[in-house]
Amino acid sequence: DWTAEHIIDELIADVQAQVGDGRVLLAISGGVDSSTLGLLLARAVGEKLTAVFIDHGLLRLGEREQVEAALLPLGVNLVTVDARAEFMAALNGVSDPEQKRKIIGREFIRAFEREARKYGPFDFLAQGTLYPDVIESAGGEGAANIKSHHNVGGLPDDLAFKLVEPFRTLFKDEVREIARLLGLPDAVRMRHPFPGPGLAIRCLGAITEEKLDILRRVDDIFISGLREFGLYDGCSQALAILTPIQSVGVMGDERTYSFTAALRAVTTDDFMTAEWARLPYDFLATMSNRIVNQVHEINRVVYDITGKPPATIEWE
Ligand code: XMP
Repeated sequence: DWTAEHIIDELIADVQAQVGDGRVLLAISGGVDSSTLGLLLARAVGEKLTAVFIDHGLLRLGEREQVEAALLPLGVNLVTVDARAEFMAALNGVSDPEQKRKIIGREFIRAFEREARKYGPFDFLAQGTLYPDVIESAGGEGAANIKSHHNVGGLPDDLAFKLVEPFRTLFKDEVREIARLLGLPDAVRMRHPFPGPGLAIRCLGAITEEKLDILRRVDDIFISGLREFGLYDGCSQALAILTPIQSVGVMGDERTYSFTAALRAVTTDDFMTAEWARLPYDFLATMSNRIVNQVHEINRVVYDITGKPPATIEWE
């Protein structure tokens, strides 16, 4: 593909011209934009790039390993930070959704700042900002607010780097095409968006390690199932939610009193409005069976049949 090849060469040349001998810091979220940027920058500046991936303990099953396996072999100077304990401590007992977001944003900046000092000094901060982000952050309820904890604008003055944003003129599809040419595995390249606060906003109410562990297993069954049945790429986003509802069930001769998990899948062009995905009943039946059989803490599974609006995609 000549065009995308050509764009890659141009982007690399632009980055090299901007950065020179400077050192570049990048936050890796595990999503396609920052992962692709990591690969591009590794090509452009090699060891002058330090890519920091903060494991906040709110990731999906195997996600950290998947990100490492995708980036390390392709020469990205990747540092994984285990910040699980500090995030859990800060979130202890917090049930309000906005409060959770704020705390996660604050802890993210704190951890990122610490790593920046540890591996620094850096001259540049790279961000995977896309063209639609540039437009939307001009106003409205959009990306600027939603992604506030992702752009590291809250850093103190002595860490005020110059920004490197090679994808500022690109759309998501173009980034995916660049990712393909740079060798990013499809599992990461075609991944649905995943919110910065991660599983914290899908584990309703106050989170605990136990609840996150239940949610992680439910989510993995659902997402793996969508891939197995060839339904993943047809959804814009799919997620599992652990509700605080406990209800009565029956298993063998025993009554159970266990949690309800919700599954949600949507189709959308812009994530501002969305339709619930009309997944086949047989698929939903298989998912429900697998979940209640494999995750003993769950005795009831529901599928969310609400559009956005009035519901949001996430439950918190
Ligand atoms: P909602 O739930 O508002 O979500 O319909 C729209 C899109 O934004 C994502 N989302 C977030 N992303 N930090 C993020 O980085 C957040 O706090 C956040 N909240 C929602 C959501 O996953 C969906 O893709």
